[in-house]
Amino acid sequence: MNLLVIGAGYVGLTMSVCFAELGHSVICIDKQKSKINALLKGELTIFEKDLDKLLVKNLQSKRLKFDISMKKSVENADVVMIAVGTPFEGKLNGYNQSGIYSVAKEIARFINKYRVIVIKSTVEVGTCDKVEQIIKETNPKADFDVVSIPEFLREGSAVYDFFNPERIIVGTGSPRAKDIIKELHKPLKKKKLVFTSRRSSEIIKCASNAFLATKVHFINEMADFCEKVGGNVCEVAYGMGLDKRIGREFLKPGPGYGGGCFPKDTKALASLGKRVGASFNLIETVICANENRIKGFAQKILSCVKDIKNPKVAFLGLAFKSGTDDCRCSPGVDIVLELINKGVKVCVYDPVAMKNAKTILKSSVFYAKDEYEAAKGADIIVFATEWKQFKFLDWTKLSKIVNNKIIFDMRNIVDKQETLKHGFECCKIGC
Ligand code: UDX
Repeated sequence: MNLLVIGAGYVGLTMSVCFAELGHSVICIDKQKSKINALLKGELTIFEKDLDKLLVKNLQSKRLKFDISMKKSVENADVVMIAVGTPFEGKLNGYNQSGIYSVAKEIARFINKYRVIVIKSTVEVGTCDKVEQIIKETNPKADFDVVSIPEFLREGSAVYDFFNPERIIVGTGSPRAKDIIKELHKPLKKKKLVFTSRRSSEIIKCASNAFLATKVHFINEMADFCEKVGGNVCEVAYGMGLDKRIGREFLKPGPGYGGGCFPKDTKALASLGKRVGASFNLIETVICANENRIKGFAQKILSCVKDIKNPKVAFLGLAFKSGTDDCRCSPGVDIVLELINKGVKVCVYDPVAMKNAKTILKSSVFYAKDEYEAAKGADIIVFATEWKQFKFLDWTKLSKIVNNKIIFDMRNIVDKQETLKHGFECCKIGC
């Protein structure tokens, strides 16, 4: 089939490459010319495991093309997938969906035969109806169906998640659209397709993320409780997770959830709930507590070095989680900003997210070329992202280059016994 994907961000690019890998003929367009030019040369504009080789392979096979023009691409497509960003707009407004609506208007002008328009972006409930209305008003003769197929890709394992979906939620009431969507996903083991109404599909997406964010917040609070009463949150999480109704996933404590999804999806859902008179008190509590946690962690770091004059902090990990270069709403970056605001000297390192972090932290911190340069003369080493390489550092070497031997491990990834052997004091989360 011919697929047009609009938006070459984390979701749109992954979708384009992976649908091409499935054998479809895909054109991905984005208004950022620089991004399209890089992609045409086979240069990935995001860090995503396994995506680079699939990008090059499908460019070479000509199944995948990049462009900036909408007209030609819409006219040749069977399915048009909208994957543009929907950033959070602010307390009462929820998502900024202007990108979705302007793209819908543009698509409408070029629809010359039956089309399926897929909303892949995370949107407010009822958006598919609005997109349908916009297209009808712009081109009353257009023959099309709007379908909701939210993405459930985790950054860092997006390619794996695409080819091994636990479910593909498809919101549509159109038998014609249903057949085309089945054809589009045929190689992905059809049985994973779950058909619902469009609004239920939109709700499944934001409800899933809000629930997962709540689960993360739950274990973070349990970690704080364990610290007070002498429990070990890792043991508690393990024991809880053996109950299939609870499940082992998303029970790792940390500095709080971040990324391009949880923070905005929880706020957008809470905002919509309030607007329709069905407030989500639990989600509102999670949002507020998660934001406070990040501030609280900056305070914890300062209390670890409270007896040291002008402490220097080696801050390892800036991406919102390991496996990605994404620093959107990254707890690590937010904690660094808190420290800088308090006049603390911070030297940062992240294996892949330095470029993105620099757009936020600018010249307010020192950027190290590796963990050891960051630790040089440091009074505390902070671990904020669970990069695997941080688990295997040379503690003998580190013990010789730091100024004080203090560790604050926000992800419980460091081997405490190993650090104690080298005279470090190691603070962890909930244990
Ligand atoms: C999420 C959803 O998992 C995915 O299904 C959806 O499509 C997009 O949003 P992502 O944002 O990539 O994916 O990250 P995820 O792995 O879900 O982690 C979200 C946040 O929770 C991160 O900040 C992560 O560090 C944190 N987290 C996750 C924890 O603190 N503890 C955990 O046990 C799991």
